[in-house]
Amino acid sequence: MTFGTLISFLMYLTQMIGPFTQMSQFFTDMAKTSGSTARIQEMLQMPEEDQTSGESVALDGKTLAVDHVDFEYEKGQPILQDVSFEAKPNTVVAFAGPSGGGKSTIFGLLERYYNPDKGEIKIGDTTVTGVNLTNWRSQIGLVSQDAAIMAGTIRYNLTYGLDGEYTDDQLWNVLEMAYAKDFVSDMPDGLDTQVGERGVKVSGGQRQRLAIARAFLRDPKILMLDEATASLDSESEMMVQKALEKLMHNRTTLVIAHRLSTIVDAD
Ligand SMILES: Nc1ncnc2c1ncn2[C@@H]1O[C@H](COP(=O)(O)OP(=O)(O)OP(=O)(O)O)[C@@H](O)[C@H]1O
Ligand SMILES: [Mg+2]
Repeated sequence: MTFGTLISFLMYLTQMIGPFTQMSQFFTDMAKTSGSTARIQEMLQMPEEDQTSGESVALDGKTLAVDHVDFEYEKGQPILQDVSFEAKPNTVVAFAGPSGGGKSTIFGLLERYYNPDKGEIKIGDTTVTGVNLTNWRSQIGLVSQDAAIMAGTIRYNLTYGLDGEYTDDQLWNVLEMAYAKDFVSDMPDGLDTQVGERGVKVSGGQRQRLAIARAFLRDPKILMLDEATASLDSESEMMVQKALEKLMHNRTTLVIAHRLSTIVDAD
């Protein structure tokens, strides 16, 4: 081989190495993408909830009744068996029981995330499966066990999903009632503070108080509290408890609590 040929061979070689590493990178990316695509396909194929059909029903003054309900998430693993109860208008119904007993599941059924396998849920004389879903959920407030906070501002988290426009005063007002005004006003941008992905920049107790403020703002006919004060210190718990008592006034309330002190006053 002449010296010139050797040099050109080496130069071609270095030029080829780059594309080859790129090619292996490409196949790695493609494998990743096909994984995510499969997941997206799965979601796109899920049946959509029917938000529009069904009649609108006003929930106030009506008794909510759960009638001999059976439910299982997976075949052969019954979670609820023959559950019946009634929540008369403007009363407080409390749920207590062991962890994993199915309390949050009952709330899931009432929100109509799932349908009972047997039995029915009724509001007044109407079976809820015939009620318009948007209408139904707009009248129910749920403070869930793992307070759902999304990336965005505090303002966004208080008002998402709600139709009306809210003034800052209204928002501060509900924050105050939920004992959340102090920590929000201490934040750099107040109501416009970004809470981070899944609310990582606010603590568990703060998240819970934001969820309660949200419930105040919605002013629901039926209020469901799932361990709403579980991750608060005893002082803020007392304050929030007082605020909740105000909120429970004039509406049907369902509470889940492990600490019996929170539900001694229930009907
Ligand atoms: N989405 C789901 N898919 C399958 N199984 C579930 C699902 N959610 C809950 N379960 C199961 O249902 C049972 C009841 O759960 P649930 O969350 O209703 O309990 P809980 O009474 O609220 O308990 P805790 O007091 O700990 O909150 C549990 O055994 C749980 O494993
Ligand atoms: Mg639960």
